[in-house]
Amino acid sequence: MNITIVGTGYVGLGTAIMLAYLGYQVTGLDNDEEKIQGLRAGTLPIYEPGLDELLHAASTNLTWTTHYDEAIPQADYIFVCVGTPPLPDGHPNLTYLESAVRSIAQHLDGKPQIIVNKSTVPIGTGDWVMRTLEEHAALYATSHYEVVSNPEFLREGTALGDSLYPDRIVLGGSSWATERMRALYAPLIDQSFEAPPNVPRPRGYERPAVVETTLTSAEMIKYSANAFLALKISYANEIAGLCECVGADIHEVTAGIGLDHRIGTRFLAAGAGWGGSCFGKDTSALISTGHDYGYSMPILRAAMSVNERQRSVVIEKLQKHLRLLKGKRVAVLGMAFKPDTDDLRDAPAHDFIVRLGQLGATVIAYDPVAMTRARSEWSHLRYVEAVSASAALEGADAVIIATEWAEFRSLNWNEALRAMRTRVVIDARNIIREPLTVPAILEQIGRDHPHPSFLPASGLPDVKVGA
Ligand code: UDX
Ligand code: UDX
Repeated sequence: MNITIVGTGYVGLGTAIMLAYLGYQVTGLDNDEEKIQGLRAGTLPIYEPGLDELLHAASTNLTWTTHYDEAIPQADYIFVCVGTPPLPDGHPNLTYLESAVRSIAQHLDGKPQIIVNKSTVPIGTGDWVMRTLEEHAALYATSHYEVVSNPEFLREGTALGDSLYPDRIVLGGSSWATERMRALYAPLIDQSFEAPPNVPRPRGYERPAVVETTLTSAEMIKYSANAFLALKISYANEIAGLCECVGADIHEVTAGIGLDHRIGTRFLAAGAGWGGSCFGKDTSALISTGHDYGYSMPILRAAMSVNERQRSVVIEKLQKHLRLLKGKRVAVLGMAFKPDTDDLRDAPAHDFIVRLGQLGATVIAYDPVAMTRARSEWSHLRYVEAVSASAALEGADAVIIATEWAEFRSLNWNEALRAMRTRVVIDARNIIREPLTVPAILEQIGRDHPHPSFLPASGLPDVKVGA
C-alpha cells in the first residue's frame, strides 16, 4: 500500500513517520522546499521527542517531495495534514486545505483512492472535499474516490506514543472506505508491530477502540474532544481562583475530585491556561459553527474567557508584589506552549512578554528548545535571551515560570533564586513543590500560601544580588 501525506508539519510528520515505521511506503509532500530538502537530508523541521530516531529507523520507506505529480497518482491513501490556523473571526483559515485538495484532485489517476482528512476541519468539510473532487478530478465519473475523516488526537511532545498506542481510532465515511482504513491500520488495531525501543508499549495497554461513523460525526468528535479538554482545564483554573480566595489548595482539590472515575485526574492541572495550535482554535471554531446556525454555546465561551483571564492573573500577581514594573527585570522561563515541543503557537509566554513590555519591564527569556524558533516567529517581541534558567535569574526582580519543562522542575530553586535581586517567583505552572529555604515570595495558581513558613508577612524581602 502506498501512502502520501500532504503537509509535513507537526501532524503530517508524525503520521508519515509512524506509517513508514509500520512498514508502508510513504511519500511526504510539502510546498515548503526548504523543509523537504532538510527531510531528504534526514533533518526534522520540528522538535518532537523520539521522532528523529524513528525517522532514521524508517528512512528506507520514506520519500520526500514538493511535487503533486510525483506523490498523488500512485497513492492508495492520501492524508491531508496541512494547517488550518484561525482567522480573526474564529473560523479556521481553509485556504491551505482548499489549494491542497484541488491539487490532489488534479493528480488522481483513476484507480480507487482514499483521501483522508487528518487536519482539523470544520464540520461539513468532508462533503466539500467530495464536491471538489467531483469538480476537479478528471476521471471522477469512472473512478472510486472517497473521503474519510480520521481525526488525530496526538499531543505535541508525546506524539509518537499517542499515535502508536491511541485510545481510539475514529473513522468517518462509507463502509467501503472505513473498511480500507481498518486494513491500513491493522498493525495498530491488532498491535502487531514491534514497539520501537524509544517508545515502548505502555504497561497494560491492549488495543485501541475503533469508532466507525459518518464523516460529519467524525469531524464533530474531533472538535468536541478538544473543546471538552479545554473546558476541563478552564474548570480547574476557575476552581483554582476560588481556592485562592478561600485558602484551599488546588492540588488537593483536583486530586480529590479526580479520584471519581467519572471525572478523572487528567487535564485538571491549573496554571497559565492552555495554549497551542488546537484548543483555542478548535473551541472558537465550534462557537463560530454554532453562530452560523444561530446556536449559542455559553459553556465554551466561558471556557475561552477563563483561559484569557488566566494570562492576566499571572501579570496581576507580579504587580501585586513588584507594584511598578517599569525598569524592573523579569525573567520568563519557558516559551513553548507546553514542554517537549518547540511549538510557539498561542503560547502564554508570548502574551506575558508583550504585557511586560507594555508595562515597561525588561524581559530575559529562556527556553530549552524553542529559542531558535522564537528568533524568527517572535521577532516582533522585545526580550533578551538567556543561556540557561539560572542565567535568566541573575539580577532579576522577578521570575515567571511559563512552561513546565522538566529542567525547571528539577532546578535547585533554593540555589538559583539566590542570584536574583528581589525574589518574586510567579510559578504559573505550579512546579515548585519543595519548600523554599531562601527568603522569597512564591505565588502559584490556586495555592494561596503554599509555603507559609517561608513567606514574609508582607512586602518584599530585602535581598541583594549574591546574598
Ligand atoms: C495540524 C492540523 O493539520 C491542524 O488542522 C490542526 O488543527 C493542528 O495541527 P500542524 O501539523 O500542527 O497542523 O500544522 P503545521 O505544522 O503548520 O503544518 C502544516 C504543513 O503543511 C506545513 O509543513 C506547510 O508547509 C504545509 N503546507 C501548507 C503544504 O504543504 N501545502 C499548503 O498548501 C499549505
Ligand atoms: C491537543 C489535544 O490534547 C490532542 O488530542 C489534539 O490532537 C491536539 O490538541 P496539544 O495541544 O498538543 O494536544 O497539547 P495538550 O497536551 O493537550 O496541551 C494543550 C495545552 O493545555 C498546553 O498549553 C498545556 O500546557 C495545557 N494544559 C494541559 C493545562 O493547562 N492543564 C492540563 O491539565 C493539561
